[in-house]
Amino acid sequence: MAIEETVQPPEEDQEDAQSGAENEPAAAGGKSKPRRRKKKAAKAPEAPAVVELGPGVEVLIENLTGAVELNGQLGRCETVNAENGRWHVRLRSGEVKALRPENLRVQPLAQAPSKGKAQAPSKVNGKAQAEFDAWVTQTLRNVQSAAEQMSSTERLQMDSEFLGYEFSGSLRPAHVTPQMDAPNNCEFPDYAKHPEGESVSENAHIRKRQDAPVLEGEELLIMREACRLGREILDIASRFVKAGVTGDEIDRIVWQACVDRKVYPSPLNYNGFPKSVCVSPNEVICHGIPDCRPIVEGDIVNLDISIYHKGFHADLNEMFFIGQCDEESHNLVRTAYNALLAASEMIRPGNFYRNFGDVIHTTAVKGGCSVVPAYCGHGVGRLFHGPPDVPHYRKNKAIGILKPGHIFTIEPMLNVGGSGGDTVWPDDWTAVTTNGKRSAQFEHTFLVTENGCELLTARLGTNVTAMPPYNAADFQR
Ligand code: MF3
Ligand code: CO
Repeated sequence: MAIEETVQPPEEDQEDAQSGAENEPAAAGGKSKPRRRKKKAAKAPEAPAVVELGPGVEVLIENLTGAVELNGQLGRCETVNAENGRWHVRLRSGEVKALRPENLRVQPLAQAPSKGKAQAPSKVNGKAQAEFDAWVTQTLRNVQSAAEQMSSTERLQMDSEFLGYEFSGSLRPAHVTPQMDAPNNCEFPDYAKHPEGESVSENAHIRKRQDAPVLEGEELLIMREACRLGREILDIASRFVKAGVTGDEIDRIVWQACVDRKVYPSPLNYNGFPKSVCVSPNEVICHGIPDCRPIVEGDIVNLDISIYHKGFHADLNEMFFIGQCDEESHNLVRTAYNALLAASEMIRPGNFYRNFGDVIHTTAVKGGCSVVPAYCGHGVGRLFHGPPDVPHYRKNKAIGILKPGHIFTIEPMLNVGGSGGDTVWPDDWTAVTTNGKRSAQFEHTFLVTENGCELLTARLGTNVTAMPPYNAADFQR
């Protein structure tokens, strides 16, 4: 979300990023002070080998004698009933079943990072892949796009608003097809049918400067479900993304995946945004409009999914490497992931929202990157973008203390090198770096719990209490 008045970043640029490692950042308008380097004990982040049954843990149901049709289904643990010792497990269908611990097998954690070169994820079984491919073909046939009737030259033609515009980098916009209709089988956020896409509820909150809401009970269950659905849709979109596909096609895949789940794609018509997903390649920082440019080998691409389900939004994004990418891109994406990971480790009741920016900045600068101060994380739930503001830059003045029941995103955008500068294309959405270098971002939706956090948008089958260490293979396409 675009930054607000109360949390304006410092004016200074982040030049210290270039000079590398652990120098003290330059004070506003001044030079950086030399500082002694602190030796840090080498820390090897390792995923715990076993996960115990607990809230949020993904489980496989097996060895049930009565309701045998439940065997083989995956679900997520919610609460335990102390009286009968049964876990409430939410199935992928949304149904909740009370089950004994002995009938639940904890799903293994995501792979620990592999040493050396990134490998593409191992091929899933052939039948599942064939089914997915068939669904993709059907979807691209059914979800019509004007692009199908156009020549490839027409598809690459940028719209007239760009005539005479000086681009900061080498990426060029391509044709953007007309906005699709809202799905007709879901609940709508208030901006879905507004002529300018204004969210009256969000704007009312901004005026009143309310605190972050504390969610409980049924609201939390719906948020968990919304975030799980958002995750499924990101996984579908990212399974489809590869060299040759266009943003327009990704958008149609996302739209259909939303229809299949009876959820609304939150970006569609939000303040007039014309598509169902943000697709942000290379020097695009965020809010890339899906267009008819085919993605090419060597690109890095951010897919940002947000959805609205039973009155609640979920929001997440990830980067993907398209084939072989250069070392600078690998370093950038790894640093962006590690910045979010470091911030996520600070989520617990009593911490301050203003503190995330310091660790994000430190991680960025150590990686030779800079933070884009113009866009913040945000509260998410009944509002797509609500309180609190979660700036990603150091020394910010964000308001508020984390409390159990708060739900918000952290979504640092990092640029290669020392400038976190951004500028917006004449389409009024696409934010790009001012120097044309690449930018990367990761985003999760987090719930503050009594002891820490729950990663509501965690990959399916992974630990929800902590992000796994970075593994380039997870993002290789
Ligand atoms: N999903 C973005 C976020 O992380 C917001 C996208 S708004 C849109 O906050 F209109 F550009 F889609
Ligand atoms: Co967000």
